[in-house]
Amino acid sequence: MELTINDITCTFTPGQTILEVATAHGIFIPTLCHLPNCTPTGACRICVVEVRGARTLVASCAAPAAEGMIVGTDSDRVLRARKTILRLMLDSGNHDCLLCPAAGDCVLQSLAFRYGVGTGTFGRPKPRHRPETGNPFIVRDFSKCILCGRCVQACNEVQVNEAIDYGYRGAATKIVAGCDTTLGESDCVFCGECLQVCPVGALSIHDARGKARLCETRPVRTTCPYCGVGCQMD
Ligand code: FES
Repeated sequence: MELTINDITCTFTPGQTILEVATAHGIFIPTLCHLPNCTPTGACRICVVEVRGARTLVASCAAPAAEGMIVGTDSDRVLRARKTILRLMLDSGNHDCLLCPAAGDCVLQSLAFRYGVGTGTFGRPKPRHRPETGNPFIVRDFSKCILCGRCVQACNEVQVNEAIDYGYRGAATKIVAGCDTTLGESDCVFCGECLQVCPVGALSIHDARGKARLCETRPVRTTCPYCGVGCQMD
């Protein structure tokens, strides 16, 4: 079966989403909430594309590809929508990249650079959640959370731990462990799956805080300092 993306004819198999078809043909569509092999949630909308004949923009991570579809991934309308979504996300939290434990390893930051948007568009006061540091492994900072839900999917669909989920409503929505307790008091087993998929600096390991920014470092060959065996590592 075939569809057209940005005037490029793309083949696909039934069941694939527009995002999967585009990715398979080397066409970039940004994503934040999308987690491969998990149920699409369409939570962030950054992956919107224009489909000829559709009245609204379509979330490509959740929309199935169809025969003869004509898709545009970088029209003015799409770019305007993406920039607005990024500005809303940047102003929804405390995204001060210079002080963030993600240290440049952040999808939101990369997309902000790519699309040339910054903070301060909507002038919303910064939320000031205190980072939850009460366990030896994971630091949670809700002031940097964009509610993409990838950590929830990683916990519930990938690891099937079901330790965290969305809680509360509206502007008070946040990711909660159990009945909004700390990770240490919840069913969390600290497997780290959520850490790996967080696209921003909302989840970090204790060790990572205060380290150099990844974009300003280069790998070197060295000796692991931890157990005394002397393994070489990059
Ligand atoms: Fe498609 Fe978030 S990546 S809605």
